[in-house]
Amino acid sequence: MIAKPSIPDPLDNPGAQIGKPVSRVDGRLKVTGGAKYAAEFNTPGLAHGYILSSAIARGRILSMDTSKALALPGVFQVFTHENRPSLPWFDRKWKDDDAPKGSPFRPLYDATIHHALQPIALVVAESFELARYAARLIHVVYEAEEHQTDLHAAQAQAFTPGKDKGGFQPPPKPRGDADRALAEAEVSIDLHFTQAAEHHNPMEMHASTVIYHNDGTLTVHDKTQGPLNTQTYVCNVFNLSKDAVRVISPFVGGAFGSGLRPQHQLFMAVLAATTLKRSVRVELSRPQMFSFGHRPETLQRVALGARKDGTLTAMIHEAVQETSQSENYVEIVVNWSGQQYKCDNVRLDYKLARMDTHTPLDQRAPGAATGVPALEIAMDELAAKLGMDPLELRLKNYTEVDPNTDKPFSSKELRACFQQGAERFGWHKRNHTPRSMREGRQLIGWGMASGVWDAMQGQAAASARLGIDGTLVVGSATADIGPGTYTAMTQIAADILGLPIDRVSFQLGDSNLPMAPLQGGSWTVSSVGSAVKAVCDRLRDKLAGLAVGLNDGPLKGLKADDLVFADGHLIAKADPSWRMSITEVMRANDLLVLEDEARSIPYYKSQMQHTLGTHSAIFAEVRVDEDLGTVQVTRVVSAVAAGRIINPKMARSQVLGAVVWGIGMALEEESMTDQRLGRFMNHDFAEYHIPVNADVHDIDVIFVEEHDDIVNPLGAKGVGEIGIVGVPAAIANAIYHATGKRLCDLPITVDKIL
Ligand code: MOS
Repeated sequence: MIAKPSIPDPLDNPGAQIGKPVSRVDGRLKVTGGAKYAAEFNTPGLAHGYILSSAIARGRILSMDTSKALALPGVFQVFTHENRPSLPWFDRKWKDDDAPKGSPFRPLYDATIHHALQPIALVVAESFELARYAARLIHVVYEAEEHQTDLHAAQAQAFTPGKDKGGFQPPPKPRGDADRALAEAEVSIDLHFTQAAEHHNPMEMHASTVIYHNDGTLTVHDKTQGPLNTQTYVCNVFNLSKDAVRVISPFVGGAFGSGLRPQHQLFMAVLAATTLKRSVRVELSRPQMFSFGHRPETLQRVALGARKDGTLTAMIHEAVQETSQSENYVEIVVNWSGQQYKCDNVRLDYKLARMDTHTPLDQRAPGAATGVPALEIAMDELAAKLGMDPLELRLKNYTEVDPNTDKPFSSKELRACFQQGAERFGWHKRNHTPRSMREGRQLIGWGMASGVWDAMQGQAAASARLGIDGTLVVGSATADIGPGTYTAMTQIAADILGLPIDRVSFQLGDSNLPMAPLQGGSWTVSSVGSAVKAVCDRLRDKLAGLAVGLNDGPLKGLKADDLVFADGHLIAKADPSWRMSITEVMRANDLLVLEDEARSIPYYKSQMQHTLGTHSAIFAEVRVDEDLGTVQVTRVVSAVAAGRIINPKMARSQVLGAVVWGIGMALEEESMTDQRLGRFMNHDFAEYHIPVNADVHDIDVIFVEEHDDIVNPLGAKGVGEIGIVGVPAAIANAIYHATGKRLCDLPITVDKIL
């Protein structure tokens, strides 16, 4: 039996908080500078580290002369592979929670250079500026070897990775004979795509401030999407006990996947702190943010065949992605294609190609943000060739079961997304002929696409402490990288116990709190929210039991189910004048506090019988300047089906931000390698372009109704990633509609349009 969500309907319950557009509970701290980030924790005598990065992409360090740096007054130490202490890290291949198959990069391990900008030394000094200056005085002699950083060349050695990472599923086996069906199709298209490498560029750079205590214990302030991941990394790499390492990171200034794995600044800061026995901060510069992890460059082919009426008869989706020499970084790129449409002949193929680069890293909707746009641009091309409305083509091949597995979806309101999105956008007014709309020198185009992402859940735990004054503190060792976790968790707790929002606070970002998984994959509400619900349900049951058991109380003899919790009170459904405040119930039972902890475990069995996912439909309008080739995305409607929406205001913000990033993926973002140096060259905001205010116009977000009892006890699927997935395709398709040019190499920059 699956437990049904027990959260009261907001319409019936005046105390309901779930579903309300509550403003961020931490908003004031964030806009007043009260929120502290990893590089803002201070302590007297704090030393500062600066990382020196490799100038070559592959080879060896022959010699390093650090004497000039060390001679500067105020420089405490220079760490290199030659003088670093021996550490368990270098013997045991301990892996972090997000590590793929292979050996994780070990900073300062030896003289080998694996990739450009590899950290090769840490200068520790009394100020950041001094450390940075001293780093420039280090003389390094390299022996360079030939490097391979060109995916087009590397793909000749591409290989099929095995199943190796939590969540990674190799593509399903082929169904039917896709190649033959393609050859025999009445109408077919065959497109090749490139997706540029992209770097995470959160506002906050990666930083770790390690506070060294006299007893040798550490307090680590790290930019991370998982305080426990940071803690176990530090403990394992440096052979410290959990009692000796406390990670505190209450705020994270954006991460998007870049904080899923502990990065080298953490290693460096802990190395320096434990060796020098003093507190140390290591912060990366913006250019150094390009020295680890990125959305991998990807080459794809999508070929589709159909009957003249639009029925899909053949689908081939192949992808080759870059990975490093040491780890098999994998994403789910092509599987979505087999899931999104009905088709009898499907072949999906996914390969990796090794390059001399750092290991790529999950970036917002990893895999789907790359693979689904290729499919959705191909669908648009097929519609154009069929002379069919692209929306109608999608509806024609709509599927109510997952064709990859033949399992039903736990819920799938994509049809409602199509309908409501199209209506809001005015899609039915579209003339499907390219170049059919213009205003002066501006060509106007309308395009659409669909999106899909997982709805995952992991195990998590939460604690709760209710005071006799009716204040509640709930906690879990999760992070809030920006989606509004503090607020969503506060709402869930307040809702269940019928408390006003300002009576409830939520604690996170502390390794002493109950277990939570990494914040990623859009699963925090699902995982941690379910734990918060579980622990608050227990407090609620306890309180109800205490209240109805009071011999002289007004709720005497009632059952827990006969009560509602609202406004800090337990109230009889039968007669709202029969009520007790939480304070009265606790006082009558001589309780000052009521505490509990609970763990939530996914409904594995019923979840396994279904495909769990979020869906979206995106409609975009572009204006293309015929002379200049510039593109403005003037209108976007994104309709999202993500189950229950805990907070429509923050969920909307998530989708708005994702659409903006989708504009970046479509038109601007690209980490460019100079193949002679094997290095990303545009490593700052002057040259790595992201959308600015002038690039962002009307964005309209719709959340369609979607009910789901299977996905988790809250029925909430998470919205952190679905918002980006189809956006690049909707824009590329709008550019096709405006110009008649089918462009498949993202980003679509001016040179490609002209
Ligand atoms: Mo997200 S790429 O799962 O942090």
